[in-house]
Amino acid sequence: MCSRTKIENSGQMELEETIRNPGFKDVDDGGSAADTSSSGTGERRDSTAVKLDAAAEEYTQLKPYAGMPKEVLLLHSSRARYRVPREILFWLIVCCTLALVAVTITIIALSPPCLSWWHITPVYQVYPRSFRDSDGDGVGDLKGIKEKLDHFLDLNIKAVWISPFYRSPMKDFGYDVEDFMDVDPLFGNMQDFEELLAEMHNKGLKLIMDFIPNHTSDRHRWFNLSRTKDPHYKDYYVWTDCDPASPKPNNWVSIFGNSSWTYDEVRGQCYLHQFLKEQPDLNLRNPYVVQEIIDLISFWLEKGVDGFRMDAVKHMLEAAHLRDEPQVDPDMPPELVTTEWDLYHDYTTSQVGLHDMLREFRAVMDDYSREPGRYRFMVTESYDYEEVDKTMMYYGTPLVKESDFPFNFYLLDLPQNTSGWWAKHLVDLWMSNMPSGKWPNWVVGNHDRPRIGSSAGRMYVRAINLMLLTLPGTPTTYYGEEIGMENINITQSQVQDPAGKYNVSLSRDPERSPMQWNSEKNAGFNTQTNKTWLPVHPSYETVNVEVQKEDEGSVLSQYRFLNGLRQSELPFLRGWFCYVLSDTNVFSYLRELDGHKEAYLMVINFGRGSSTTDLSAVKELPNELRVLMSTNTANNQKVFQKSRIQTEAGEGLVIRYSTYTRFHPSHPAQCYVSEKACYLETVGILYKC
Ligand code: GLC
Ligand code: MG
Repeated sequence: MCSRTKIENSGQMELEETIRNPGFKDVDDGGSAADTSSSGTGERRDSTAVKLDAAAEEYTQLKPYAGMPKEVLLLHSSRARYRVPREILFWLIVCCTLALVAVTITIIALSPPCLSWWHITPVYQVYPRSFRDSDGDGVGDLKGIKEKLDHFLDLNIKAVWISPFYRSPMKDFGYDVEDFMDVDPLFGNMQDFEELLAEMHNKGLKLIMDFIPNHTSDRHRWFNLSRTKDPHYKDYYVWTDCDPASPKPNNWVSIFGNSSWTYDEVRGQCYLHQFLKEQPDLNLRNPYVVQEIIDLISFWLEKGVDGFRMDAVKHMLEAAHLRDEPQVDPDMPPELVTTEWDLYHDYTTSQVGLHDMLREFRAVMDDYSREPGRYRFMVTESYDYEEVDKTMMYYGTPLVKESDFPFNFYLLDLPQNTSGWWAKHLVDLWMSNMPSGKWPNWVVGNHDRPRIGSSAGRMYVRAINLMLLTLPGTPTTYYGEEIGMENINITQSQVQDPAGKYNVSLSRDPERSPMQWNSEKNAGFNTQTNKTWLPVHPSYETVNVEVQKEDEGSVLSQYRFLNGLRQSELPFLRGWFCYVLSDTNVFSYLRELDGHKEAYLMVINFGRGSSTTDLSAVKELPNELRVLMSTNTANNQKVFQKSRIQTEAGEGLVIRYSTYTRFHPSHPAQCYVSEKACYLETVGILYKC
């Protein structure tokens, strides 16, 4: 009832309004409406007639439909000349909207997943003691790293992993952490860290921290509370009863040699340490400890770090039963079992529950990854040697994410047998075992392994960088590899590394020498005093950043060129990777993308002599092949017949060729791709195919 009254009233008002505004009078077919008005409200019209007539004239000109009653308007609007365009417009809008929605859905459905920053850039490892010393004490520091950020930009490297700089007694040079929430004074302070991070972000660089979940320093507050049996902390480490006279509750050995148990006088028990005795293993079976780790991860994520390199993850859990591990040689007298190679590590590595824990850490990182461009990256460190499957588990499952990738250390074995087929074998160890759809990665050096330039030989340095930067996936470059740095020689008296204290050949000092920036004092590492914590390599006058920057044919310039290529050319980032040939000398593979005319062929001679490679059987390759880049600059732009591609030992070629004929469809067993994508050249877009 109520609403009807309202409608009736408003109808009445409309009519009255119409009468006051005579504009409609002149409108076609408006007669009847005007008549109604004149009969209904004659008196009022008389009193205002003159005024209204004058205004009406003007009003009609300006607003012919203003105030027109609904009925009249409807009458007009239903005429074909209004109705038809209106309907056309209406359907046009409907169709366009539907088309837009459809196009959006199609684009989303057809686009291959976007690449994140860690797919695109190489990861550069900085060993902070050795990168750049800003205060002249002989040890590198955070301010030093900040001074050198442009070096990464020059190389087009956007991700920097910095080895530990937490407060530490430095028994294992920072891998023994006393306080995970503080910076060691040797490296600076928290403000230096925050300034470094801010400056890195300003420059578009990502900072990856090293994180050590397996152990702390024996000087950590938790360890002190644990050894005094504080009720909350007593189970923060792995303790067991043992005989103080022979503190070996079982045969487990430390990675640094000898028993992994040490008797603690204060508590009167033995504690486990899979590394140094000053690095007690945390008891990650204790949920409070796991929560502590999560809190620490959150602490640094909150500060804005872009990822973590998770240290020594396979050691995180140990079997609770503490049984002896089986000996590799069952006949070896047990007292001679002193190195990690003497035992099968069935109870001290890769225990059930390890991956669940890492996935929990990953989930925390995902919580911080929601903002666009703020993906937090995780890489795990686990040496599993011939047990590749164990390493691959760190990739997680299709449903549960874990590490973005576990470090691939297999190329570190390249020096064992420098040959084409061995290089192929090592590459294939990863490619053929990696779960499908995952992202590969390659490491040729780090702070724990001899520099590849020394172990493989200087002549292979360029070829190794060429391979590193043209394989599919993310390359990792240890500081100095971009200029071909080599190991320094260390005498027993110069040893700093605890791993080398008993046996100089096990020392990791040779690969940790100061970064070679220029030909000046201390290679530009420390420009203030004469101190350097390890000697500078004598080659520094020629092997350094400044000199190599000026030289187009230097290791550095080639690194920069290849890194530019892999980031700008789609076949390297998104394309197929196919083996073409491997023999005693040469390893050859190609990178191609469907729909992309340019493809790349790599021919790398890892052998000991020159080689002529015959690829005439590869019908997808054009007959003439032009070298885009050779590690031997004299051969740049050289043209080879595909039946006679010549390389010297240690020479690598990048050959660019044009064709739409693809290699992978006819050789599926030789090819890999993380995510299939095709290129639509006419519009320059990628789509799933
Ligand atoms: C990792 C580090 C190594 C360290 C060890 C113990 O393997 O790379 O340098 O000694 O963990 O933390
Ligand atoms: Mg452990």
